[in-house]
Amino acid sequence: MSDSIAITSGKGGVGKTTFAVNLSIAQKKLTEKVFLLDTDMGMANSHVLLGINPEFSIADVISGRKKISEIIVSNKNGINLISGGTASNNLLNMENIKRYSILNEIDNYLKESGNVKLVVDIAAGAEDNALVFSMACDRILIVIIGEPTSFIDSYALIKALFSKSSFKNYCIAVNQVDDDEHGKDLFKKFQSITSQFLDVNLHYVGCIKNSGKIRKSIVDRTPIMSSEPKSDISQSFLKIAKNINNTPINQWGGLTFLSKVKKRA
Ligand SMILES: Nc1ncnc2c1ncn2[C@@H]1O[C@H](COP(=O)(O)OP(=O)(O)OP(=O)(O)O)[C@@H](O)[C@H]1O
Ligand SMILES: [Mg+2]
Repeated sequence: MSDSIAITSGKGGVGKTTFAVNLSIAQKKLTEKVFLLDTDMGMANSHVLLGINPEFSIADVISGRKKISEIIVSNKNGINLISGGTASNNLLNMENIKRYSILNEIDNYLKESGNVKLVVDIAAGAEDNALVFSMACDRILIVIIGEPTSFIDSYALIKALFSKSSFKNYCIAVNQVDDDEHGKDLFKKFQSITSQFLDVNLHYVGCIKNSGKIRKSIVDRTPIMSSEPKSDISQSFLKIAKNINNTPINQWGGLTFLSKVKKRA
């Protein structure tokens, strides 16, 4: 079955792109085809972490210069990257019509592609773009870390998403932990704060240790899932990918990335 997952966070720099790239490679072990859409125009873009330099981006599709099939770059991990472009032609402040045209273009393209998993790297925070692209996905993964600012901003993000979409289900992963116990503890703390004020279901999908290997993988531009698939960290990413796939899908009346794909199925 085709479905989509948004990777987002309350505050920036917590590891969204690291998760998006490694979870895409993990999903490739579980699904026929994986597409990674980068809508995050931060400094560490998905293509940088994947070690590829795309010539064109979704901005070229929106402007009518290219077809979506012409901008997708596949890489040795079997991931098909749809680049969001660089900060210079950024889509951060685009109007609604452009956002919907992106959703529509991708939806049209993917309906010819068989069973797909679409992973979407979303900008941090509760800006309109982040909300629209997150709500267009079947599942939302929020990456948190053990800092008060991450908790507060993630809570604000869930509140904004819930009030716009009524989505009940949110996957939570904890990054940069000491060990599994630490990850579970931080999740429980976050859950107890959130459940006091919001009637949502938080699904704990796992944690990733704070590791020099991850920092090195970013410098080397080779995701750890690719360079060391058998390592503890890669096994954690694989477990998180499987756990995410087992969480309930959100139902939303608005436009989604895979609405036509689903109609066909
Ligand atoms: N588990 C980890 N252990 C050690 N370092 C990590 C870990 N996860 C992420 N980092 C480091 O944190 C930095 C930020 O990671 P990343 O770019 O994935 O975050 P982001 O949430 O996508 O940031 P932005 O909001 O700018 O898009 C990276 O330079 C990376 O080296
Ligand atoms: Mg990022």
